[in-house]
Amino acid sequence: MTQQQTWSQRFESVLHPAIARFNASINFDIELIEYDITGSQAHAKMLAHTGIISLEEGEKLVSGLEQVRQEYRQGNFHPGIDAEDVHFAVERRLTEIIGDVGKKLHTARSRNDQVGTDTRLYLREQIQQIRQQLRDFQAVLLDIAEQNIETLIPGYTHLQRAQPLSLAHHLLAYFQMTQRDWERLGDVLRRVNISPLGCGALAGTTFPIDRHYSAQLLNFDAVYENSLDGVSDRDFAIEFLAASSLIMVHLSRLSEEVIFWASEEFRFVILKDSCATGSSIMPQKKNPDVPELVRGKTGRVFGHLQALLVMMKGLPLAYNKDLQEDKEALFDSVNTVKACLEAMTILLREGLEFRTQRLAEAVCEDFSNATDVADYLAAKGVPFREAYNLVGKVVKTCIASQKLLKDLSLEEWKQLHTAFETDIYAAISPRQVVAARNSYGGTGFSQISTALSHARSQMTT
Ligand code: ARG
Repeated sequence: MTQQQTWSQRFESVLHPAIARFNASINFDIELIEYDITGSQAHAKMLAHTGIISLEEGEKLVSGLEQVRQEYRQGNFHPGIDAEDVHFAVERRLTEIIGDVGKKLHTARSRNDQVGTDTRLYLREQIQQIRQQLRDFQAVLLDIAEQNIETLIPGYTHLQRAQPLSLAHHLLAYFQMTQRDWERLGDVLRRVNISPLGCGALAGTTFPIDRHYSAQLLNFDAVYENSLDGVSDRDFAIEFLAASSLIMVHLSRLSEEVIFWASEEFRFVILKDSCATGSSIMPQKKNPDVPELVRGKTGRVFGHLQALLVMMKGLPLAYNKDLQEDKEALFDSVNTVKACLEAMTILLREGLEFRTQRLAEAVCEDFSNATDVADYLAAKGVPFREAYNLVGKVVKTCIASQKLLKDLSLEEWKQLHTAFETDIYAAISPRQVVAARNSYGGTGFSQISTALSHARSQMTT
């Protein structure tokens, strides 16, 4: 199709080749082809249903479009730059296949409502797939958590040893984060699944179309109420990128933890060979490339969110070509989030082994039971602030004499405060320290059992 054929007769000369390349989106929006075909089939059916074209013409359009789909699936459809975008490419091929009837497809429609329809159909499917991937990730988290209720791990604040935790509790924190991600995407989906088809270029159309009919064929929940809004809204894309950014925040935080857990300084996990890489020069190295890449890729998704916000902020109504820029941002974000979720799920499922012996030692080698000494006194009637100050002094003397709290004799305890009895030793054992935090949502073992069954039920809703 030459330029004169694409545009109306008002154009006298063809586009400069560099400008044609600059203008074209076919190299990337080919990703939308199946959605474009599905959207066009619904539009054709609506045109026939309302009598704008004949039933026979409608059927020809629908089956011709199906043939374009098959050609594409078989790898036989390769539109060039001259097609400009996927919408022109499909319409041109359709017309080659079925003849002049193909030229009726674009009745009562514009590429503006068409591209909006395609993008929403694409995003709807991607959101469903990402939500399923979140479920797979959560299932692995739950499995590891279930096996590690009794495994203790140091808990940190400020990356300083704070209080020991059940490893299950730590992993269930990520379950809850990804649960919010799953819910958030469900909420975004409600605003993605609205049909702009039939909004036309900006003002609607002179034809007696039935927007609800085509929307229903495409399983949209509703139609845009205002045609200008329908063709120029990209809020749904920005919301998707915001939700995706949060998924990446969560994956990146876990990645960061895995990276330092695998370091010689922590030695909390072993990276399995199937998910680790070596160094080209240092033969001893085993590198956590998977979580590093996830952490590194996070910025791309944030960047795409920023790009779309900036793209939108100064746009007058209605469609502007700037909007073509939404696609690469969406496609790259979708591909990044999916790839990262897949890799992290595999890493958790088979690439990580928690060193339980090392973890058991780690929770015994610090003062992370200090709060429990203060709690012990407070439970015996000593005002907490007083107990806190006293334990601070004990920790200071222990550090000076290179002792831990468990190394103090009963006599030494008694000298500090007469309220101490032999049960202080049990009270400050790491297992008891964890078990005792039985407040709702805490790390106590019975809380974790409740949390696990709650998480299981959240998975089935
Ligand atoms: N390729 C265009 C896009 O992605 C399709 C819509 C073009 N509309 C127009 N009025 N030029 O936004």
